Amino acid sequence: MIIAPRMRGFICLTAHPDGSRQNVKNQIHYVQQQPALDSYKKVLVIGASTGFGLASRITAAFGSGAATIGVFFEKPASPGKTASPGWYNAAAFEEEAAQKGLYAKSINGDAFSDAIKQQTIDLIKQDLGQVDCVVYSLASPVRLHPKTGVLHRSALKPIGKTFTNKTVDFHTGVVSTISIEPATEDDIQNTITVMGGEDWQMWMDALLEAGVLAENAVTVAYSYIGPEVTEAVYRKGTIGRAKDHLEATADVITEQLKSINGKAYISVNKALVTQASSAIPVIPLYISLLYKLMKSKGTHEGCIEQMYRLFSERLVKSGEVPTDTEGRIRIDDWEMDAEIQAEIAKLWEQSDTESLVGFGDLEGYRNDFLNLFGFGYKEVDYDAEANELVDVPSIK
Ligand code: NAD
Ligand code: NA
Repeated sequence: MIIAPRMRGFICLTAHPDGSRQNVKNQIHYVQQQPALDSYKKVLVIGASTGFGLASRITAAFGSGAATIGVFFEKPASPGKTASPGWYNAAAFEEEAAQKGLYAKSINGDAFSDAIKQQTIDLIKQDLGQVDCVVYSLASPVRLHPKTGVLHRSALKPIGKTFTNKTVDFHTGVVSTISIEPATEDDIQNTITVMGGEDWQMWMDALLEAGVLAENAVTVAYSYIGPEVTEAVYRKGTIGRAKDHLEATADVITEQLKSINGKAYISVNKALVTQASSAIPVIPLYISLLYKLMKSKGTHEGCIEQMYRLFSERLVKSGEVPTDTEGRIRIDDWEMDAEIQAEIAKLWEQSDTESLVGFGDLEGYRNDFLNLFGFGYKEVDYDAEANELVDVPSIK
């Protein structure tokens, strides 16, 4: 079929298999242009099909020659309906890995469930014996709790008082003012349950107990801090509470991994256009200002540049892992650069529909958004018939 983007609000209902392959290939190409890494060799990535998780998997495999197992929750295609982009990404990743002789298998299902954890453990036992690195990169609006059976929904809300600020509809470029009502106590607790550290801990518990973590194994989960303009809705809002919990969980896991001399890390990453971040109000306006400034300064990075820098300069296998005073790895350092942030604060005040055309990178935003779904790649002929019924080789 001929596949075009079909936008509905902040999601795209279609995805392009050939464009998704181009996305994966471009990331692989980037890593192959960098110095090879002597990093982890048997890597489990939870949330491996898009965003930071996919880039982590690509860095491990093509940078360090790692065998990888990827866990994700994606939809295969059905006749007349495309797969979700992560499905196509995973298919392309596995095929590219096979061509390089790299082990890569994937598990598609709910990572929050006991069953998917068990399936992953069985696969590790069968094929790899143990893993030496576990990347935890889930972003989900819901979690079915495996012990209580309760379905929790996260919220993106401020805490304490109504938040009113600017935002942009990145499709139209229209800047408007939005108000978000404060969270209830339930909203806060639900968001912590979905995006906090409990599931990460459950994974590490299960992996440790099953004996599939190698001596000195590490695990890393991703967090975000961001600027003052987004603080009320992000870091001091419901999602920030979940990130506080996730960050605190790193210490608990490190304690728990003492028996194998393992360690849990948090990496604070840069704000990037992903399916998850596009849904958060105010963030798209911030990102459009940030991109323009970082691009002109030459410090702009995408997911793959961030993850390569994480594994090459931060989460190093031998030697000191550099962290902030709270023990977190910081690869948001270039985003948080004082000069960049001062400039954003100034431009924020001036931003409206007309002025943003000049100092916001809306085109970069839109292009990155299209790229998430496999659209907007010059190498792909979008007028040609595409085969949407692509399989992920390792998934039966
Ligand atoms: P993403 O939406 O691109 O990726 C989410 C991944 O989780 C996908 O592989 C998806 O299949 C998987 N997933 C979701 N629900 C699942 C489930 N129930 N079972 C199995 N897999 C499931 O998101 P992202 O932006 O790469 O976010 C990953 C992490 O990075 C999150 O913790 C996020 O908060 C953090 N982070 C994101 C940004 C940003 O700007 N995007 C910045 C800093 C940190
Ligand atoms: Na991810």
